[in-house]
Amino acid sequence: MARINDNFLKLKAGYLFPEIGRRVNAFTAANPDAKVIRLGIGDVTEPLPPAIIEAMHKAVDEMAKRETFRGYGPEQGYGFLREAIAKHDYAARDCDVSADEIFVSDGSKCDCGNILDILGDDNTIAIADPVYPVYVDTNVMAGNTGDADDSGRYGRIEYLPATAANDFTPDLPKKRVDLVYLCYPNNPTGTVASNFYLKQWVDYAKANDTLILFDAAYESYIADPDIPHSIYEIEGARDVAIEFRSFSKNAGFTGTRCAFTVVPNGLTGTTVNGERKELHPLWNRRQSTKFNGVSYIVQRGAEAAYSEAGAKQIRDLVSFYLENASLLREGLSRAGIEVHGGINAPYIWLKTPGGLTSWDFFDRLLTKAHLVGTPGSGFGAAGEGYFRLSAFNTRANVEEAVDRFKKALE
Ligand code: MLT
Repeated sequence: MARINDNFLKLKAGYLFPEIGRRVNAFTAANPDAKVIRLGIGDVTEPLPPAIIEAMHKAVDEMAKRETFRGYGPEQGYGFLREAIAKHDYAARDCDVSADEIFVSDGSKCDCGNILDILGDDNTIAIADPVYPVYVDTNVMAGNTGDADDSGRYGRIEYLPATAANDFTPDLPKKRVDLVYLCYPNNPTGTVASNFYLKQWVDYAKANDTLILFDAAYESYIADPDIPHSIYEIEGARDVAIEFRSFSKNAGFTGTRCAFTVVPNGLTGTTVNGERKELHPLWNRRQSTKFNGVSYIVQRGAEAAYSEAGAKQIRDLVSFYLENASLLREGLSRAGIEVHGGINAPYIWLKTPGGLTSWDFFDRLLTKAHLVGTPGSGFGAAGEGYFRLSAFNTRANVEEAVDRFKKALE
């Protein structure tokens, strides 16, 4: 009989979004006429920009001819895309990141989990609370944590509370950690990190030999010119940080799948014997062994995100979702709700009214207003009493959601 990975048994309940889906399905089965508006999972609603579609059509035509057909691509991604990323996402912002340090993949979620393949199982790990659940759950699966306590917090993780008191930007850990996850613009709170704040983390990481795993999947939502888009905008970050980026939320690739991870040359970790080893060759080895790359068609589509027309269309798309965020923020504030985020991010983080728990508020909103959001407690114990709304939806749905929200509070 094959042994299972017992660590999976430590995981609390289901993954957050499937659990929401289960509750919503039960509600719609019992109320088939209810028109449910989903502001839960951050999934885009608008079609892919025309420049991307055009590039993908062209790539499909290439695949139809022997002379231009492509089989396996490079596991690290095609040079044309890695070069475009290096030029537009990094050189343009004065970040020292070269094309060979960029690994194209099928998603940041996957990479955030997969990166643990190249890291040891005895690292001390700091994770914000609330947080994107993938960072915690993948560490549980990998056996890097103890059991969960009653509040859902796992042993061996140093939780860094992100609360209204610290403006949802956690304080540095009190003790030294080997690994820290940071996500800015933040999922779920929608807050951003200033240059000053990120510099503190880079300094901490340098002083403590800590590896930063920086998730910048929402960087394109930064409207404020003073907010850094990449950890590599901070001096010295190359020596301490890996960065995850995605085409999901800017170019609308949640279903198309394309992302990338930057592992700088020279960034190191230590062996069990304390010997320094570079992480880049390890990640390269991991990807070459377990991954066959993103399809040529999709990578051509991602490349078009950087063309003049594509970049403009993406800016418009992001602006559209940011306007949705602003409508939600203003509408809910007017209804007397305490709201955070939603200015440089597609997520609104609100305080549940009347002291309701996050899940009670979820049920109330679903049954009274047929609205779906994400309970803050699903992102961690410190998210209790909060609720996340996603701005990814059609304008009509967002406007209707604001109306329904107000009615549900009456
Ligand atoms: C979210 O809603 O938190 C995100 O859509 C999840 C993800 O990007 O995987």
